Amino acid sequence: MQSSAASIGNIGNNIPDLMTAAQQVGYGDAKDALQLKSDVTVPKELKASQVLVRNHAVSINAIDWKLLNGNMSIIKTYAFPHIPGMDCSGIVVNVGSSVGRLKVGDAVYGNMGYGNAFAEYVRADESLFALKPVNLSFAEAAAVPLAGETAYEALFQQREITRDSKVFICGGPTGVGLFGIQLAKAVGAHVACTSSLRNMDTIKKLGYNVTENISEVMKPNNDDLLVIDYTKYNFGEILHHQNYDVVFDCVGGQEQWESAQQILKPGGRFITIVGDDPHSNLTVKNIVTMGAGVINRKFWSLVGQEPSYIFHILKHDYRHLDDMRVNYIETGKMKPIIDHVYDFYNVKELHEMYDRSKSGKAQGKMVAQIIKD
Ligand SMILES: NC(=O)c1ccc[n+]([C@@H]2O[C@H](COP(=O)([O-])OP(=O)(O)OC[C@H]3O[C@@H](n4cnc5c(N)ncnc54)[C@H](OP(=O)(O)O)[C@@H]3O)[C@@H](O)[C@H]2O)c1
Repeated sequence: MQSSAASIGNIGNNIPDLMTAAQQVGYGDAKDALQLKSDVTVPKELKASQVLVRNHAVSINAIDWKLLNGNMSIIKTYAFPHIPGMDCSGIVVNVGSSVGRLKVGDAVYGNMGYGNAFAEYVRADESLFALKPVNLSFAEAAAVPLAGETAYEALFQQREITRDSKVFICGGPTGVGLFGIQLAKAVGAHVACTSSLRNMDTIKKLGYNVTENISEVMKPNNDDLLVIDYTKYNFGEILHHQNYDVVFDCVGGQEQWESAQQILKPGGRFITIVGDDPHSNLTVKNIVTMGAGVINRKFWSLVGQEPSYIFHILKHDYRHLDDMRVNYIETGKMKPIIDHVYDFYNVKELHEMYDRSKSGKAQGKMVAQIIKD
C-alpha cells in the first residue's frame, strides 16, 4: 500500500498540492466509469466553517454504485471528472476560521453527502463530521456513517423503539439491517429479522443468541435474535398476529409491506428505506408512482385501515454520529461487520468493491483502506 500524500505525522504541515483520488469520468459500471488518479488537486482552501481531513479509510454504500451508474441522475448530476464516495474516516489536518467543535488532530468519521470522499484528503463543512469512536479502527469507523445513521434515524427519530418493543427487520444482514438489529437490541427491544441461510454466520458475528426455532416465536426472549430464513418462509405467515410495533424494511419490494401488515399491531409502523421496487432507476415516472403509493398507504393508515407507512430517507446530522459513538459504539452495543477491506491504491480492487456492493451479496460493509490502522 502506498501513499502519495502526507502521513499522520504531518498533521497541519506539509499538506501536499496533489493527492491520489478516485475519479468518476462518466456513468456506467465501475471498470468503465471509475479511475484512480495521483495528480488531483488537494482542496486546501477552506471556507470559515470547513475542515480538511486526511482520510485513512472510506467505505461504499448502495447509493455510491447507483450514482456511478447514473441511476439517480434525476436528483444528482455531476460535471466530470468527479470524486465519488460518501463515508470516510481520518484525521483533521486544517480548520476554517469559525470551526469550533473540531480541531486539528481530531480523529473523525463522517458522511460527505453526494461525493468527494474517495480521496486522500477531503474538504467539507464541519457539520458533516463527528469524533471517531475510540474503540474502532479508522477502517471500522468509515463503515458506520451512512448505514449506521440510516438505521439510527429510522428506528429512533420518533422515539418509537423502547424496552420490550417488538421490532422486525427485513434484511437483517444488509449493511443497514446489521446496525438496525444492534440499535434495537441496545434499547431492549425484542428483535426478529429475515436472512438467508448463507448469512446466518454474518448475523452470528453480532454476538446474540441466534435462534431459528420458529416455535419459540410465542415466547420472545430479550437475549435472543429470531432469524427467519426468507428463502423458505414468509415472515408474514410465520409471525401472523404477533403484534409487532415496527417493521423496518431494508430490502424493499411490495411483499415486505404485505407481510408486514400481517404482523404489525394496530397503530404499528412500517418503515422502509427502499420502497416497492428495489431495482428501479430513479425516473420521473418511478418517483410519481412511488409518491402515489406512499400517499395511498398513508391515507389508509390515517383512516385506521392499515399500519403507518413511512418511507425514510437519510437526513444526516453529526449529532446522530455523536450519539451513536457515545451511547452505542463506545459502550460496545454496536459495531460494524466488515465484509472485506480493499486496497484504495489498487484501482481493480476499487472496481471490485463497487461490483460487490452492486451484486447485493455483500455480507457486511466494504471498506477501502488508505492508511493502514
Ligand atoms: N433511504 C435511505 O436513506 C437509504 C440509506 C441507506 C441504504 N438504503 C437502501 O437500503 C438498501 C440496503 O442497502 P445495504 O447497503 O444496507 O444492503 P446490502 O449490504 O447491499 O445488502 C446485501 C445483503 O442483503 C441480503 N439480502 C438480500 N435480500 C434479502 C432478504 N429479502 N432478506 C434478508 N437478507 C437479504 C443479501 O444476502 P442474500 O442474498 O444471501 O439474502 C446480502 O447479504 C439498498 O436498496 C439501499 O439503496 C436507503
